[in-house]
This record gives sequence, structure tokens and C-alpha cells, in this order.
Amino acid sequence: MRAAELDLARYTVWLESETDFAGWRDAARRLALNEIPPGDIGWQIATDACPPQNALPNVPEGAQLVVPREFIGRAETAFCHSDPGRFAFLYRVLWRLRTEPKLLSIASDVDTKRLETMEKAVRRDSHKMHAFVRFRKIGNGEDERYVAWFEPDHFIVERNADFFVRRFTGMRWTILTPHASADWDGERLAIGPGATKADAPAEDDTEALWRTYFENIFNPARLKVKAMQKEMPKKYWRNLPEASLIPELIAGADKAAIAMIAKMPTTPPPHHAKVQARHWPKKPPAEAPDDDASSISELREAAKGCRRCPLWRDATQTVFGEGPDDARVIFVGEQPGDQEDIAGKPFVGPAGKVFDAILDDAGVDRQKVYVTNAVKHFKFEPRGKRRIHSKPNAGEVQACRWWIDREFALIKPDLAVALGATAALSLLGKAIAVTKMRGQVVEREDGLRVFITIHPSFILRIQEPAEKEAERERFLKDMRQVKRLMAA
Ligand code: URA
Repeated sequence: MRAAELDLARYTVWLESETDFAGWRDAARRLALNEIPPGDIGWQIATDACPPQNALPNVPEGAQLVVPREFIGRAETAFCHSDPGRFAFLYRVLWRLRTEPKLLSIASDVDTKRLETMEKAVRRDSHKMHAFVRFRKIGNGEDERYVAWFEPDHFIVERNADFFVRRFTGMRWTILTPHASADWDGERLAIGPGATKADAPAEDDTEALWRTYFENIFNPARLKVKAMQKEMPKKYWRNLPEASLIPELIAGADKAAIAMIAKMPTTPPPHHAKVQARHWPKKPPAEAPDDDASSISELREAAKGCRRCPLWRDATQTVFGEGPDDARVIFVGEQPGDQEDIAGKPFVGPAGKVFDAILDDAGVDRQKVYVTNAVKHFKFEPRGKRRIHSKPNAGEVQACRWWIDREFALIKPDLAVALGATAALSLLGKAIAVTKMRGQVVEREDGLRVFITIHPSFILRIQEPAEKEAERERFLKDMRQVKRLMAA
């Protein structure tokens, strides 16, 4: 509303901020119950120079405002829209609802349409925020925290802060935006004033990880530049570490697609959609869990609702680690396979059988060790009726470190055994050449000793019998060494 109009308004409502929905709601209720029409009201945001000076009529005794229940929820969403006319608009809708209670179901009504458009824009912006906030690490040890800069179109920080608390409960983080900031110190969420991009750090080591993740999920055969830009609009590119790869990936897409098609199975997966539908959870798992598990069984329970990466969607269930809470050694595999996904237990399928037999030969009692995986959900490609194992990428491994770090923190073993490259990546935080480092013990900064060996499925894949037997012997030798290290 312009100044001249404001002067004409009989009532001026001063809201405390762009997102002061409670203030709007209280004022709107008082005004509507006093029959003050929309044209008589001006809406303003208070500032330090211009503090709130509300002088609104009281609610007449016994008066009640009846509006459809859905309106409040919908108004709260639309309230986050950046349209400066939204306060007056929402009051107009409220005003009309008193005498047109079915208004919100009249899709052709101009106000109903506008309300819906605003809600959609806020939801879409929130979705983009969930997908494109990129934290950058600052500080180390006690001072370690993660800071992100994000530029939403609407006033959505307060609305979405809880999502990040649930998703990144274990981290201390701050999200800075031009309008507001959200800060989580591990226990409390605080909403503060807006910031500038210069307040956020520019680069850190996780950039490389995001780029690797994006490179891995980028599918050149499915490249649709327009659709991609719709999903990841250009305005977000400047704050996304992986975006620096986009022009390069698009340019190389034809060549990459040809190479990819050459590697694909000759028959396309005809039941893909059906298989996916069957494995889609009937009921979505609980929201991301809290970070206060004080035992492995609590942690296992919490992991059932894990959504830290997209793999939960297609997997049947989370396959958590198993073994005694006080095991002295933790074996880490890559990810559950088809049978583990169905059984909900690690290493029970073909690779698990090889593993068990060799542990037994080496004199290591599986009941006394803890066995887990770097990634807790089965990643696969449907091919016909089969689900073919697909290697987890660096982003998925990183997302799942949240769990494995907590398994280690609770069990406190003396030794970890990395079964293959994915486990080594998870445990050491960097890719290593397993064939070169096999049989070695690497000591991590926190003092944990990590023994490197191959994944038992490697033995399964060898066709030639003599070679297979030789590899089995080498793995047995590694397991004997593990037994000696356990005793040391
Ligand atoms: N391979 C793994 O890495 N883990 C399992 O649980 C099964 C197969």
C-alpha cells in the first residue's frame, strides 16, 4: 500500500516481520470481527525506525470468527510468499470466507487461484531449498561447524529450518539468506537476521565430494537440458559446487551417452516401474530420527526411518549392523545385497556365506564381531525380475557415514576391517587402491586401526577354479591376520 493510501486507511496493522503470521492472524481476527472491510486497512512491517503502533479494536464480547479449517494452513503457507500485497490479499480472502464458506473450492475464482499459485511457489521454493543448500565446513574439532548461503525467492527460512534440524541433527550449522538466518548448535534452533553472501565461506573440502556425487548421478542418456534447468534453475548454480561441472557434462553428454549405451544390457528392464512400485514403502518411514541414541539398539531403531540419501526409496528396509555392542572388531562391507535387503540383516547372502566360511576357517567367531555396511540401503538397478547390485557413489557413502560414525562411537572397537574400496572410503574418508594396500593397517587420526582387505564378493566373481581358490587362500590369510590383530 502506498503512503497516500495508508493515510486514508482507518486502521494500520504493524507486523513485526515479513513472517509474522501470528501478528497478522490476531489483527485479521479483530478486524474481521469488528466488520472492518479490507479497503479500510493498511498493512506495514515495523522497523527499528518505525516500531509497531497497533491500535486495533478489541474482539466484541462473545463474537466468533468461523472460517474453513483449511484456510489457516493455506494462509500460513501463502504468507511466506514475497508478494508485498499478500497481507491485504489474505485478509480479503478471509473477509470473503465469512459469507462465502465454499470459496476455496471454487477453482475458477480469481482469489482462490491466486492463493493456490502463491502456495505452490512457496512449496516449490522450499523444495529447492531442501535440495540446494550446500554446507561448507569451517573450523576444526570443537569449533567445527557448517555454514551455507542460500537465496530463496520467498520468506521460507523459518518454515524450513526444522527440516534441516531433522536432516542434520548431528552437525552444528547455520544457513544464511538475505532475509533471515537459521542456526542450529546441536541443541537449539535460533532464527536471526539476514546476511550477505560475503558472510558465508566460499570453498571447502566437501566441494569435491559434491562434484563427485553429481558426476556419478548424472545420466547422459537422459539429458534434457530444459528439464534439468527447471529442476536446478540457473539462479542456484552460483552457490552449488557441483554446478561448475554442468557445462562440461552437457558438452560431453553425447559421447558419454554413446559409451553408456554400449555398456547397457541388451534388453531394457521391462518391469522397472513395477519393481519400483513394489518396493516403494506403503507408509513413508518416520521423519529423520533424533541424534540421541545411547545404545546400538536405539540407533538401529532410529536408522529405520533414515532418509539421508535417496536410496531408502527403492530399498525394502534399512539393513543395520549386527553383533555385540562391545565387540572389539567391526567388519565393514559395502552395502546390503538383494538377500540382505529382504532379510534386514548384513552378510546373509552369497557373499555372506563365503565370508562366514572363511572367518570360521580362520578361527574368528562371527558371533563375537560386529558386522555392518558403509551404506545401509540396497542400491540396485531393476533388470527384468532381478535387482542388480549397483555400487553406491561417494555422496551416498558420505551420507551414511552419519550412521557408521555413531556405530563406532557407541561400540568403541580396537580394530576396523574395511572389506573393499567402499568400506575403505567410508572409514578413511578418501579413496584408496585396495589391491595395493591390502593387508596393511592404517591408523586414523582418532587412533582407530583400519585393516584393509578385499570384499568377499570378489572371490565369488572369479570364474577360473584355481584362481578362485588362490584368492580364497589370500583372504583366509588376511582373516588370520585380523585374528592376530584382535589379540594384540
Ligand atoms: N555385501 C556387502 O557389502 N554387505 C552385505 O551385507 C552383503 C553383501
